[in-house]
Amino acid sequence: MSRSIIIDCDPGHDDAIALILALASPELKVEAVTTSAGNQTSEKTLRNALRILTLLKRQDIPVAGGAQKPLLRELIIADNVHGESGLDGPALPEPDFAPQAENAVELIARVLRASPRPITLVATGPLTNIALLLASHTELTPKIERIVIMGGSVMLGNWTPAAEFNIYVDPEAAERVFQSGIPLTMAGLDVTHKAQVMSEDIERFRQLGNPVADVVAGLLDFFMLYHRQERWGFKGAPLHDPCTIAWLLAPELFQSIDRWVGIETQGKYTQGMTVTDFYQLTGKTANTQILMDINRQSFIDLLVDRVARYGK
Ligand code: BDR
Ligand code: CA
Repeated sequence: MSRSIIIDCDPGHDDAIALILALASPELKVEAVTTSAGNQTSEKTLRNALRILTLLKRQDIPVAGGAQKPLLRELIIADNVHGESGLDGPALPEPDFAPQAENAVELIARVLRASPRPITLVATGPLTNIALLLASHTELTPKIERIVIMGGSVMLGNWTPAAEFNIYVDPEAAERVFQSGIPLTMAGLDVTHKAQVMSEDIERFRQLGNPVADVVAGLLDFFMLYHRQERWGFKGAPLHDPCTIAWLLAPELFQSIDRWVGIETQGKYTQGMTVTDFYQLTGKTANTQILMDINRQSFIDLLVDRVARYGK
């Protein structure tokens, strides 16, 4: 039986590839796609989600846009990584269907309420919508099986020395989610920086020769530009968001630890840091499964295999 998921994302190149991976995978049933403000404004991330689903001919999936800004702070976007549109690079179709009239929180709540079984939430942008859902629909918490999050890092940040982008954008939302008591899996930079796509992998996508694979190759070409900066010391580009879906599909590709994680909301230098009790010094019960390592080659093979299915 397939696993029901709802994807809350801010597409975003790697978010788009996470959607493409999920929707090629019969093990997963994508019940809804909702969008958060993050990589770009809420208007642009919503439009991008609709463009990707139009490309995939999945207009049957309900889509809704989320909050325009973080809970307490002004929005920060990552147009330096994702461009003016949020999905710069390949030619994408215009959306040929409309989002739901309700907002992201209402759509997630409606889908959870109607579901006979608990649903896994996958969050690949700032956690604003998920925090609002938890605050406004406490009765639905038992309907959430797990939240799989791309965000944070045990070690180093990528937006500030201490913080990863998704958590930095809305730390108050992240803190609510991390202290919710719901089972959490965190695909942070510890693992996503090991999940790099290399130039030769991009050629594998290009050679698949189907329209979705061509878009994936175009997205990755653009995504590479930012990650080529010497400061990162990368050979390729980290495929952050697809790690969440890959973990659901093939958890055996990952190594993880269970630890307590809290989000820094006050720090002078550390706003948005995922403070991790790595050495278990506090006696606090672990609240997060943290992915730490990945079999990179098998991850790329999985992605190539799933993207190839769009040609069949
Ligand atoms: C995260 O930030 C965004 O730019 C990416 O889409 C990813 O979700 C990586 O820090
Ligand atoms: Ca994202």
